[in-house]
This record gives sequence, C-alpha cells and structure tokens, in this order.
Amino acid sequence: MTSPTLNSQSAMLAQQCAVPSRCTAPVCRAQKLVALRFRRPDLKKAARFFIDFGLSVVSEDEDRVLLRGASDETACVIIEHGAPAYVGFSLAVASADDLARLAAANNTEVIDADHGRGGRRVQLIDPDGIQVEAIWNYSRLPDLNVPDAPPENRVKQTPRINTAVRIALDRPCIINKLGHTVLGVRRIAESIAWYQQNFGLIVSDFQLMENDALPVVAFMRCDLGNQPADHHTLAIASGVETGHMHTAFELNGLDSVAAGGEFLRRRKYHHTWGIGRHILGSQLFDYWRDPHGDMFEHYSDGDLFDSNVPTGYHPIHPESMHQWGPPLNADMAGKKPSINLIRTIVTRLRSNDDLSFKRLINLIRSA
Ligand SMILES: [Fe+2]
Repeated sequence: MTSPTLNSQSAMLAQQCAVPSRCTAPVCRAQKLVALRFRRPDLKKAARFFIDFGLSVVSEDEDRVLLRGASDETACVIIEHGAPAYVGFSLAVASADDLARLAAANNTEVIDADHGRGGRRVQLIDPDGIQVEAIWNYSRLPDLNVPDAPPENRVKQTPRINTAVRIALDRPCIINKLGHTVLGVRRIAESIAWYQQNFGLIVSDFQLMENDALPVVAFMRCDLGNQPADHHTLAIASGVETGHMHTAFELNGLDSVAAGGEFLRRRKYHHTWGIGRHILGSQLFDYWRDPHGDMFEHYSDGDLFDSNVPTGYHPIHPESMHQWGPPLNADMAGKKPSINLIRTIVTRLRSNDDLSFKRLINLIRSA
C-alpha cells in the first residue's frame, strides 16, 4: 500500500508539473516500437555486438545489416554503413489513414518502407533532429523459438520435481523483442507534446525535481485502449546528455538476463549497471555499452498498463531508479567526466534550452 506521505508528495508534484500527461486528439496512436537505426563504420563488428547481445541476422550486404528478435515482426535493428551515429527509430501505426494523416499534419509524404519486409512509411524529424518513422503494412517474419524459463520451486509451489536447473552460459541469450528507447532532449515540454500529438503516447509516470515545473523524465506508453501496453515504449529525459541514452530488449526471465550478461562479460563487453529491478516499469534490468559507447538494456518482467491507468508523479533522487541492485554509478547517471560531456554542458548553458545553470546544479544534486 502507498504511504500517505508518498500520496501527498505525488499530489504536490502533479500540481507543480506544467506538462500534460496525454493529448485527447492525437494525429494517430502508435502501436509499438518496431526498429532502431544506427550508422556504423564497420558493419561486421557492429553486427557482432548485437548478435552477442541476443539478436539474429535477417540480411546483410555491404551497405547495411538487418537484425531481429525472436518475436519481432520485422528487423528491429537496422545498421547502415557510415560514420557512427544514432539515426532514429520506427513506430508501427494501425492503418493507411494514420500514415496519410501523419504525412498531412507534418507536410510530408507517404513513401515505401525499407525494412526489407515491404510496407509504407512516413519519415518525420522530432524537435531534437531524431528521425522518427511511422511504418505500416509490412509482412511478418515467422517467430523464432524462445526457450521456456525453467519452472521455479517456491514455498508451497514446487512444479520442478526430479529435474535439475542448468543454464547455458556459452551462447548469447535470445532477445524476444525490442522494448523501449530513451532519448535525452533539449526542451522536454516541446518533445513530450510532439510525441503526444503525433503518436498519442500517454505518460505512464513523470519524475520531477522539487520546485521545478519541468519534469526530468517522462515514461511514455502506447495508447492501445483496453489492450495492455509496455509501461514505456519511449522515455524522454531532460538531463545533461542529449540524443540516444539507451534502448532495451526483452528477455525471458531473470536467469536469461543473468546468463546473457555472463556471456557478454566473458566476451569483455563494457558493463554499465545491473542486475537490479527498476521502480517505474518494475522490470529486471542489466545495462551494457556497445563498442561505440551506445547503451543497451536486457530486461524482463516489465509492467503492462492499459490506457485507463492514471499517470504517476514521482520525485527524482539516486534511489528513485531501482528497488534493488547495485548503487547507481556515474556511468549510468551520465556523470562520467568526458570532453564530450563538458562540451555539451557549455553549449547548452549558452543556448536557451531547458538546461540553465540553476537546473544543472539541481540535476547534479538529484543524481
Ligand atoms: Fe530502460
């Protein structure tokens, strides 16, 4: 049960938050996160990371590699040849009408999709220059097998009799699907409004600092009506870093998260934070970085909300990210000192975006 103190704090934060939690008449309602698009100079090396992370190759040539999860309907990671960059992501929409309305509202046109599975798309640019495409009518890839998690013996429930548990550590885990992506933005109110108006995303939970009307994080889910949707498909953060912060892929249970991590550890990949259980979204998590420094999450057992669940308002502090697990570290909190971080701070303090000197001090205190 929630304590009265938490309830009153939540009510106070809800009153202070200047950003609405949903748009009543969006252009369309996105159905799910379909794909991410990166550029990498060495396609084979880039694909190796995602294969070791748990994806499998759909197709590859000298210009790009398409990778998939076991139950993804199409390629969920698209790696194009080029200088290292995060290009953007794709959201599925429900109809040709949705595409037509999105195209008209954003003064662009409907074109053929290029995910290798047919379909049509509308390509938009969000307020921070991220490429966001709406995609519809692509043909499905057949599902791959995801092994069942071993049955667990618990108090009063002992389904596993005369059988031992043995977890394979000599191969990558199997990713089921793309779950969510997280972006750092320059003006959070504008970005949230853009995704609400174009794609109907609902804010599941806001995190705010004391006495600040602008949220620090908004966790946004797809509005599927009475159908449950992942707690967040897109999270938007108004910290110091901008651009791609991390993307999460779903696994089947805690053993899979741990074994997938052990395989990556043996392959000497860079571990960032985990294993733990988040608060907002509730998922078990483990964070890693690819050779270019982009962060990716293995997760399992996340919350599913239908559109009736009201928005939550929460304070942000070092313990607000997880229920259990190792303490939040500088790498995960985006505080690891680097030339790029200093450059970003200086540029942003000189601009007129959300990052003022006062907000920067508050963010450092909160993190
Ligand atoms: Fe995440």
